[in-house]
Amino acid sequence: MYQFKKTFLLLVVACSAYVNAVAQRKEILLETGWKFSKGAFPDASKSDFNDTRWENVSVPHDWAISGPFDKEIDKQVTAITQNGETHPTEKTGRTGALPYVGEGWYRKKLEMPAIKPNQKVLLQIDGAMSEPRVYLNGKLIGQWNYGYNYFYLDITKDINAKGNQLAIQLKNKAKSSRWYPGAGLYRNVHLIIKDEKSIDQWGITVTTPVAKKEFAKVNIKTKLSDARLHLVTQILDATGKQVAIDTARSVFGNEADQNIQLSNPNLWSPEMPYLYTAVSSVYEGNALKDVVKTKFGVREISYSAAKGFTLNGQVRKFKGVCLHHDLGPLGTAINTAALRRQLTILKEMGCDAIRSSHNMPSPEQLELCDEMGFMFLAESFDEWAKAKVENGYHLYFNTDAEKDIVNLVKATKNHPCIVMWSSGNEVPDQFGAEGVKRAKWLQEIFHREDPTRPVTVGMDQVKATMQSGFGALLDIPGLNYRVRLYDEANKAFPQGFILGSETASTVSSRGIYKFPVVKGFDKKYSDLQSSSYDMEYCSWSNLPDDDFVMQDDKPWVIGEFVWTGFDYLGEPTPYDESWPSRSSYFGISDLAGLPKDRYYLYRSRWNKEEPTLHLLPHWNWEGREGQTTPVFVYTSYNSAELFLNGKSLGIRKKDKSSPQNRYRLMWMDVKYEPGTLKVVALDENGKAVKEEQIVTAGKPYQIKLSADRVRIDADGKDLCYVTVSVTDQNGNPCPTATDALKFEVKGAGHFKAVCNGDATSLESFVEPTMKLFSGKLVVTMQADQKAGAIELNVKGKNLKTGTIKIEAR
Ligand code: GAL
Repeated sequence: MYQFKKTFLLLVVACSAYVNAVAQRKEILLETGWKFSKGAFPDASKSDFNDTRWENVSVPHDWAISGPFDKEIDKQVTAITQNGETHPTEKTGRTGALPYVGEGWYRKKLEMPAIKPNQKVLLQIDGAMSEPRVYLNGKLIGQWNYGYNYFYLDITKDINAKGNQLAIQLKNKAKSSRWYPGAGLYRNVHLIIKDEKSIDQWGITVTTPVAKKEFAKVNIKTKLSDARLHLVTQILDATGKQVAIDTARSVFGNEADQNIQLSNPNLWSPEMPYLYTAVSSVYEGNALKDVVKTKFGVREISYSAAKGFTLNGQVRKFKGVCLHHDLGPLGTAINTAALRRQLTILKEMGCDAIRSSHNMPSPEQLELCDEMGFMFLAESFDEWAKAKVENGYHLYFNTDAEKDIVNLVKATKNHPCIVMWSSGNEVPDQFGAEGVKRAKWLQEIFHREDPTRPVTVGMDQVKATMQSGFGALLDIPGLNYRVRLYDEANKAFPQGFILGSETASTVSSRGIYKFPVVKGFDKKYSDLQSSSYDMEYCSWSNLPDDDFVMQDDKPWVIGEFVWTGFDYLGEPTPYDESWPSRSSYFGISDLAGLPKDRYYLYRSRWNKEEPTLHLLPHWNWEGREGQTTPVFVYTSYNSAELFLNGKSLGIRKKDKSSPQNRYRLMWMDVKYEPGTLKVVALDENGKAVKEEQIVTAGKPYQIKLSADRVRIDADGKDLCYVTVSVTDQNGNPCPTATDALKFEVKGAGHFKAVCNGDATSLESFVEPTMKLFSGKLVVTMQADQKAGAIELNVKGKNLKTGTIKIEAR
C-alpha cells in the first residue's frame, strides 16, 4: 500500500506541470473594459442598455477622488458624541468633501473562454463602495451591503454561451461614514473558472499548531466539492523547492485534514518574513481537477498574563500604526505599488504592525504584510447596533454582522501577518447590557471560524466596560487613549495585560511651527494648521511620549497602534468646523506620504537598526530675530550638543523629569538668528558620534526632484513617487516655499496624481499643477504597458526647471 502511494505521488507530481498547462482553474482579474457612470439608471442592468457615452475606466476605480472638493458635499450640523461634544455645530470636510455620495454604475462585457459543462464560474468582489447589486444579463444575481467586505457569487447557472453583460450598481448614502469611504469598484473583481469537482472557494485553512525551531506541524484543512476526490499537498519553500508532500488520508465529511511535519522550518516574523507555499492538487482517479496555491508562514503567537504577547516564543510589544484605507491622492482605489510604498516608509521608521481601522483590509495589503513583515490587527466594524453616524453600519448590523465576520475570516485566515481580530472600534454599544451580549456573540463567531487567533475591541468607554463585564470577556482588552486609566483597567480586567489599540492622536502639519511652544489640546490657528513641535493633541487623546511611558514602564502593556501612520481624507480634527480643512492632521506622515517631524520621534525608539538624529524646526524665521524659537532633537542617542552659528547652546540629556524630557532633547530658550543650526549627538562617554545641521535658506532658485524608485514595471499599474522641492542658489532646501508648479510626464508613463500634504488645499489631486506646501510636494507617475524611459519635468515661475528620468521595463 505504502509503495503504491509513493509511486502514485511521484507520478502525479511529475504530471502536474503538464496537466496544469491544460488548465483546471483560471482566475481572471476584471480590470479593463469597464464603462462607468454616476447617476441612477433604471435600465442599466439590461444587456441592451446603451452605455457608449459612459466613461471608459479600469478597475480598481474610485469615482470621487477626482473631485472637485465641495463644502456642501458633507456639510452637516451634528454633535460628534464620541469626541465628547454635546451641542450640534456645523461640520465640514468630515468625509473628505469629495463627491462620493449617490449612485454609480459599472458595466462590462464578459469575454470569457467557452465554459465546459462540468465547470463552475465564480465572480469575486474584494470590496465595493457600497451596497453592490450585481446583475448578469439583466438579472440580479447577488448583493452585499458592507462596502469593505469580500464576497463571491456562483454565477454558473446565469452564464450565457453567447456573451454576457455584467452590471454593478453602487449606492453611497450621505452621513454613512466618519472618514472618506471612497466610491465605486475600488478593489479587485475576479472571475474564477474551475472544475465542478474542485476545492471550495476559501476552502483551504492552513495553521501551524506547532512552530518550533526544530520542527513544525502544519495542519491543512481542505474543503472538497466531493469527498471522493483525492488530495495531494506539496509544501514548497521560498525558493520553490519541495520540502514536504502528503496525500490526504483523513477526510471528515467533505473536509480533508492533513498534518504535515517540517523539520528546521524558517519561522515567520517581521524581521524574517519567510513564506512557504502549499500546493493543493485534487484528482478524480488520475485526472487532475484542481490546483490551488496558498502562501503561509510558520509562526506561533501567544498572549498571557505571564508574558504578554510572544511571537515564536519571544516577548515583544507591537510598534504599530492604525491606517485608514485611502491612499491619499489616489483615493481608495487599491494599488499594490502605493501600498508597498506606505509599508516601505513605515518599515524604515521601525514600525512592525498595522491595524486596519476600522474595517476589513484589502487582500493586497495583507499579502504585502506577509511578504514585507508586518503583524496585522484585522478589524471589522466601526459600529454595531448603535449609531455613530445616521446611515452607518448599524443599519445592517443585525442582519449582516455574522456573515461579514465569516467572510472576513474565510478570505484572510491564511495570512501569517494576522495576529489578532478586532470586532469593533469604540462602539457606542460599550454602554448597556445588550452591548455586552453583542461583544460575546461576535467574539464567538470569530472563535468558531478561527480558533487560533484572539479577538479585541478598541474601547474608549473604559469605565463602563470595567463595570459591565464587556472588557473582561474580550480575549484582548484594547484601550483607545486613556493612558491614565491603564493601571485601573489592568487591575479590573482579568486578562493580565492591556493593548494600546489606539494611541496618541497628536496633531501636526508638516513643516508648520507655532509659538509659543506649549503643550495643549484642541489648539486652533487662523491658518487652519497644527504645530509640528508635536505638543498638540485632542481632548480625548495625548502626546506620543505619554504612550512611550506606558510601553516602557508597564510590562503588562503589549504594545500600541498609533493613530495614524499617514494622514487620511476626512476627519479634519481640530478643524472640522473650519472649511476648507478636508483631511486629517493625525498622521505621522502627511497625506502625500512625506514624514512629519513626529516620524523621527517614533523612529528614534522603534528603528533598532540605524541611529536617528533629527532637528526641528526649520531655520527660516525672517522677522523672528531675537525671539524665543525652541529647538527639539528627536534622536536615538541619549544626549547631544546644539550649536547656533558655531556657538554652543549647551548639552541636553534625556531624563525622567517629564515624558517630553525623557524622549526628546529640547532647547526651549534659543533666540532666533539666521545661519546654521547644528546638533552633535554624543555617546555614553561624551564623544561626538553623529551630526546634523539646518541652514537658513535664501530665495527659491531651483526645482529638485527625487524618485522613490528609478525602475518600475511596464505593467500599466506600477507607480513612481517623485518628491519635488526647491532649493536656493547654494542648494539649501527652502522650507517655506509655496511656489505654484506645473508637471509634464513624457515617454512610457503618465501623470497620475499630485499631493502636497496641506489639509486645507482645494487643488485637485488629478490636475498636473499644484503649489508647494512647506517647500515640498509629491508627484505620482504611472507606467504604461510599454517599456521605455519616463521623464518628468517640473516648472515654476522664476525657478530653474527640474527634470528626472526613470525607466519602465
Ligand atoms: C478615535 C477613533 C478614530 C478617530 C480618532 C481621532 O476615537 O477611534 O476613528 O476618530 O479617535 O482621534
